[in-house]
Amino acid sequence: MKGIILAGGKATRLYPITKGVCKQLLPIYDKPMIYYPLSVLMLAGIREILVVSTPKDLPRFKDLLEEGKRLGIKISYAAQKEPQGIAQSLIIGEKFIADDSVCLVLGDNIFYGDQLVTLVQEAAGLEEGALIFGYSVKDPQRYGVIGFDKNSKVVSLEEKPNKPKSNWVTCGMYFYDNSAPKIARKLRPSARGELEINDLNKEYLRRGLLKVKLLGRGYAWLDTGTYDSLISASTFIKTIEDRQGLKIGCIEEVAYRMGYINKKQLARLADAVPTSYGEYLKDLLKDE
Ligand code: G1P
Repeated sequence: MKGIILAGGKATRLYPITKGVCKQLLPIYDKPMIYYPLSVLMLAGIREILVVSTPKDLPRFKDLLEEGKRLGIKISYAAQKEPQGIAQSLIIGEKFIADDSVCLVLGDNIFYGDQLVTLVQEAAGLEEGALIFGYSVKDPQRYGVIGFDKNSKVVSLEEKPNKPKSNWVTCGMYFYDNSAPKIARKLRPSARGELEINDLNKEYLRRGLLKVKLLGRGYAWLDTGTYDSLISASTFIKTIEDRQGLKIGCIEEVAYRMGYINKKQLARLADAVPTSYGEYLKDLLKDE
């Protein structure tokens, strides 16, 4: 399975913060936001990753992540010239996906939970159809809302409805079989001028090929789309990291624990970071 991280858009809801800096590069406590979704793909066992961003911001991501070699993975880059929707990233990534299945994750989504690794590793085994995740939130009208029948079967997906049919919304991490780019090509832009990922998921639902896994109370799915949610996410990460002494979304640690890099390579990465972050990486070496 291949991975795509969409880190595009103008993030106008965070202006003026994001006027000069790309949202997915903003800090979430001790690391850039994109580390979190990247670490999830790596934990899923996905080692070929495409970062899609604006032509203006792509060089910044390349500065940060390079070709992925030092993490034992392969990162490539593609431009989304205009923010024409999440589903467009599957069209942009069509050649990259080639004959494979794909996990598309949004560069500003943070997932956390004890069973997360098992969850995404299982999901990465997907061969047919689509698998998406639902999470219960207080403000469902801001998201893609999931509707159920009385047997809890998913029957509808509505993008940002005024009257949400439930509190369950779709998270920004989607696993698709190889037909996703083809379906994306047939989508028409929505009223907000975007190729909606919700419409793509609806097509899988129509075909009877959509699985929705609901993430319960043992998971955190954090949003970073507003001033408040941005700081809440940082506080959440800081609280857990301080208490446990374990980092969340630490791509160097994940690369090491997944066996993508060896001790020597981790030591080199640690040396390159002259902060407590680097010290943390050095301590991982001592643990062994
Ligand atoms: C997008 C999707 C929406 C989904 C959300 C998850 O919203 O359109 O269906 O629930 O991501 O973060 P947007 O970021 O475009 O507001």
